[in-house]
Amino acid sequence: MDFQHLSFDPAPSIKTPPPGPRSQQYLAFQATHEAAAVSYPRGFPCALARGRGATVEDVDGNVYLDFFGGAGVMAVGHGNPEVVAAAEAQVAQLTHALDLPTPARRDLVERLREVLPPALTRVFFGGPTGSDAVEAAVKLARLNTGRAPLIAFEGGYHGMTSGALSLSSGRSFKNRLLPLVAEVHFVPYAYCYRCAFGKTRDTCGLQCAQHLDHVLEDPHSGVGTPAAVIVEPIQGEGGSIVPPPEFLPKVREICDRHQVLLIADEIQAGFCRTGKMFAFEHSGTVPDIVTLSKALGGLGFPISALAYKEALNTWGPGAHIGTFRGNVVAYAAGAAALRFMDEHDLAAHASRLGEQLLTLLQEVERESPFVGEARGKGLMLGVEFVKDKATKEPAPDLASRVRSLCFKRGLLIEIGGHYSNVARFLPPLVLTEALARRGAEIFAESVRDLKIG
Ligand SMILES: Cc1ncc(COP(=O)(O)O)c(C=O)c1O
Repeated sequence: MDFQHLSFDPAPSIKTPPPGPRSQQYLAFQATHEAAAVSYPRGFPCALARGRGATVEDVDGNVYLDFFGGAGVMAVGHGNPEVVAAAEAQVAQLTHALDLPTPARRDLVERLREVLPPALTRVFFGGPTGSDAVEAAVKLARLNTGRAPLIAFEGGYHGMTSGALSLSSGRSFKNRLLPLVAEVHFVPYAYCYRCAFGKTRDTCGLQCAQHLDHVLEDPHSGVGTPAAVIVEPIQGEGGSIVPPPEFLPKVREICDRHQVLLIADEIQAGFCRTGKMFAFEHSGTVPDIVTLSKALGGLGFPISALAYKEALNTWGPGAHIGTFRGNVVAYAAGAAALRFMDEHDLAAHASRLGEQLLTLLQEVERESPFVGEARGKGLMLGVEFVKDKATKEPAPDLASRVRSLCFKRGLLIEIGGHYSNVARFLPPLVLTEALARRGAEIFAESVRDLKIG
């Protein structure tokens, strides 16, 4: 499938070294009038004017290759014409309806039911952010089990509201905010590049999953029987970490044995990003509850949802409410996006292109003394920077310098990882082979520059 016509051409195209004069004005205004909590302009300082496909244009006319994709939101690409048409038509009809049924809402539920595993019979729309879906999932699990404890994974990210933040592992987000939600316990994820048990994949016997089993089995592990285990089937903010294929099925089996619910957080990895509609499909695992958001809104319209098994549908009216229980324009855009994904087999495209891009990034890994590992699945990729390949000492400063060098050349990338040392690639899935290659070239050149710097 050639998606070239969806993006700006040529791309990237840097006419004025960024940030250009107009961007500088916007950035200065923002710095003066907005909160110190604003963060992305620190990574790529520019003001955006337009977006098309896998490219965005700033207010100075610079065109960037967008390998950030609105933090994984823009699966079908900026300004996707089919999705824009559906959203515009909906805006003209009706834009807010709380949780009353509407044709658009029904259409999206039908589309979701088509792509979700049949066992996940129920769809719930809560507040407009992924974090709220996580809050709702936790509430549903606790109401159904009558238990409070929760188990999450090291490296996991689930959002910024109090409950979701409690389940997220990053210390920097939590420092000085205690106490958060009590009874949340963390266990190691299958982060094989930095195994918490010092093992290597060929001989580990999946010790991380075994540790989860131990925590649930040992009456003196210090952890009460949890309501749920929450897991990202492929970790996003943790550094694009793909666990071995046996990991998720093992977690599922352990949860079943201990009668603990399994919540899969697909907010970032879902909707074709990893080469399947949902990342849990890579291992054939079916969770009890799935959280959805980001690409669900088609073009970045804010919406989140849960899908869950019939037996869990025990909560009563108003159990999780809010003014924005879904969003009518987002339903229309989301349904159109799901149609686009299906008609263009976007999952297969992401899988194919992701393999090609990963191969190019692995060449950078071989070539550079500062790249410890290039990894990922589909178009959810990461490159982990280290000071030394043997010691694996994290190099967040190098990741940050590479992001800045890429930006100046017209490539937007994100940074994540346990040590903020992973360059992350989450491009719109309508990326083309030519743009993928161009992005990889810019990244490789920027990494080469680290030698000089
Ligand atoms: C896996 C995962 N869960 C939850 C969230 C939180 O979603 P939101 O930022 O929309 O609240 C994110 C956001 O990056 C995420 O990646």
